[in-house]
Amino acid sequence: MDLLKAMEERRSSRAFLDKPVDREVLEKLFRLATQAPSAINLQPWEITVVSGEEKKRFSRLLVKRMKETNVSCGPGANRPLPEHFIERQRGLLNVTLPGLPENTPFQDFINEGSCNFYGAPSAIIITIDEVFSSIRLADIGIVVGYLVLAAHGLGLGTCPIGLITAFDDAIREELNISEEKQVVVGMAVGYGDPDDPINQT
Ligand SMILES: Cc1cc2nc3c(=O)[nH]c(=O)nc-3n(C[C@H](O)[C@H](O)[C@H](O)COP(=O)(O)O)c2cc1C
Repeated sequence: MDLLKAMEERRSSRAFLDKPVDREVLEKLFRLATQAPSAINLQPWEITVVSGEEKKRFSRLLVKRMKETNVSCGPGANRPLPEHFIERQRGLLNVTLPGLPENTPFQDFINEGSCNFYGAPSAIIITIDEVFSSIRLADIGIVVGYLVLAAHGLGLGTCPIGLITAFDDAIREELNISEEKQVVVGMAVGYGDPDDPINQT
């Protein structure tokens, strides 16, 4: 697939087909995405993949934590946001509203959906070793960009998931990730459901 076309077309998927992603396809995805540039070639990202039954159990744990703690998707801001950012946030609401399942408030859909990786068959957790300062998060952002585009090129849908970082302790425990790793972002990966209205907005 043409790269520029992929950049133009790609959108986050929030509904997935009940179809696993073959291991070879996932391996190809990571091989392509980790071609991303990184400062001094450090490649500071660490990627954990959870699939199948383990992924379902993992999602249930995160959804439970989210409900217990009332954590909600937010902008991660230290102060009230200027209006132009609020306007962009409204953009997400506006594109999502027409595709929401009936009687499901937007915030509930996003919060529960995020913790469930929107039903995708695979979930990715990206961590970085504590040895690095926050400046290296730039490299993580770049690999996330590569991941979503490479996935699109392979016919896969993705949705980056920041909300789950609120449950970093539970994630480390469940996935045997060491205390020295910071959970930076997650991602839903699977075959996007083209017929689900949420993917058509
Ligand atoms: C770092 C990051 C964290 C995100 N976290 C979430 C999330 O927790 N839940 C969610 O539904 N979408 C999440 N998104 C997806 C954004 O909402 C989405 O990329 C944005 O609205 C633009 O839409 P598009 O990806 O379809 O172009 C995240 C995206 C990024 C880059």
